[in-house]
Amino acid sequence: MSRWVIRAARREDASAIVNLEAVAFGPASWGARAVADGLTAPKVCALLAYPESGGEATGFAFWRALGEEAEILSIGVAPKSQRRGAAGALLSEIIERARNEGVRRLFLEVAVSNSAAAKLYAAAGFEQISRRRRYYKNGGDALVMRLDL
Ligand SMILES: CC(C)(COP(=O)(O)OP(=O)(O)OC[C@H]1O[C@@H](n2cnc3c(N)ncnc32)[C@H](O)[C@@H]1OP(=O)(O)O)[C@@H](O)C(=O)NCCC(=O)NCCS
Repeated sequence: MSRWVIRAARREDASAIVNLEAVAFGPASWGARAVADGLTAPKVCALLAYPESGGEATGFAFWRALGEEAEILSIGVAPKSQRRGAAGALLSEIIERARNEGVRRLFLEVAVSNSAAAKLYAAAGFEQISRRRRYYKNGGDALVMRLDL
């Protein structure tokens, strides 16, 4: 498995994140405007994952802390770099940063059909707490997952 360096994204990383988000999510992508808004929104933190061996960022995440609760808004990894631990490294970094900020509960939503992401979160200890029917534009359901820190 590759090793990863995770760092906070800055405004000048916007185009790199827009590109990563587009290739990771395809038609379900947020798009450039929403990514730019995410980078400047209050309390939202964006992270980037770089291969320790050097080179471009291959993964990103957005999360938001709200007192004792926090939520993961998005995680994506470029298809050519998937299954090498980048998302796991981003998730570990979010968990560590959230703990350091006094967060007690971390939440996220994931499409029922997205078994790769659901496995990633379950492997990190997230548990399903509810299901939101027809949550997505395509009519798909979302699972709400929680990790107690
Ligand atoms: C979901 C996603 C972020 C995972 O990124 P990744 O860097 O490939 O994930 P990791 O390599 O860190 O995988 C960690 C664990 O998650 C699970 N997992 C990840 N991808 C998987 C897949 N395609 N199939 C099954 N399990 C998978 C496995 O348990 C994996 O551990 P293992 O490789 O030791 O078996 C990536 O597939 C992606 O960007 N998908 C498109 C965007 C998306 O759906 N984001 C999540 C929205 S909620």
